[in-house]
Amino acid sequence: MKKFKSLVASALALTLLVGCSSGNGGTAASTGSESGASGGAKTYNVGVAIYQFDDNFMTLYRNELESYFKSLETDSVKYNVTIVDGKNDMAEQTNQVENFITQKMDVIILNLVQTSSADAVIDKVVAAGIPLVLINREPLGDNGDESYAGILDNANVCYIGADARQSGTFQGEIVAELPDKGDINGDGKISYVMIEGDPENVDAQYRTEYSVKALTDAGLKVECLDDQVGNWAQAKGQEIAANALTQYGDKVEVIFCNNDAMALGAAAAITAAGRTVGKDIYLLGVDALEECVEMVNNGEMTGTVLNDHVGQSHTAVDVAVKALNGEKIDNYYWVDYVKVTKK
Ligand code: BGC
Repeated sequence: MKKFKSLVASALALTLLVGCSSGNGGTAASTGSESGASGGAKTYNVGVAIYQFDDNFMTLYRNELESYFKSLETDSVKYNVTIVDGKNDMAEQTNQVENFITQKMDVIILNLVQTSSADAVIDKVVAAGIPLVLINREPLGDNGDESYAGILDNANVCYIGADARQSGTFQGEIVAELPDKGDINGDGKISYVMIEGDPENVDAQYRTEYSVKALTDAGLKVECLDDQVGNWAQAKGQEIAANALTQYGDKVEVIFCNNDAMALGAAAAITAAGRTVGKDIYLLGVDALEECVEMVNNGEMTGTVLNDHVGQSHTAVDVAVKALNGEKIDNYYWVDYVKVTKK
């Protein structure tokens, strides 16, 4: 794990160098409770704290999480799942986790608002002897350094996610595999606009870095026209794309979006600017939201990358159940991304 952490640290140090930023312990197993209401079945109380309900991807994720818990219920085991909305406010989320502790949840699944607050929250949950499953936002040090190394080195704490370097690489590879390799105007370089997610989120950092790295690794020249933070939001993605298209016009050959929600916004801006994906511009996202997969198949998006919310949520639940049963859990579980291009 140390090795992974130092890889992470050096990759992030690299991001700082190459970024284009013109715009900007114990094994205490929970016992559950006997509940008369469920016919003598053992009922486990599960607290799930989501960073923000108003997020397309995390909505799919939390719905799948809830229904998968339901599907695992038997006559003798029930899961009483409480899901709360952190509203993208760390103070609010800290309160919610403290409430989970007071309510004596048997396991907590946590999608952090701020990964830099991870150590404080983890300490509280660990001190309460409750197993903790972190999802979607990997905790790293403020600067991606090793200052947080070891925070997951606890028998009852783990992180389940996908390695965002892979998703960025897939975005870049999709462009490099196009007949014109993304150089629509044939001037020898790929001129792109980057629309980033939440800058504190390692998914955003890695996708930004590795999408471009895949192009340069393929021996292609790149030019960053604009790089702005869209905070994962569709409306922001649309605004940033619209401004970039107004400012740079035909120069814009590729728009990379760190997620599909922002790509949906960018697609609207592309149409409004009278441009056509696949003809005079390329558009990339990540997540493989259903509507985006459809857009890829009918040519309105160049490609996306499946961020497997089903695999991740099922892994999170399976690991939570393991912890509830007092079984040993690992500190990290990784789920693969998958490239999505036109069928
Ligand atoms: C997803 C984004 C989402 C973010 C939330 C990312 O992995 O790709 O769509 O907004 O997670 O943390």
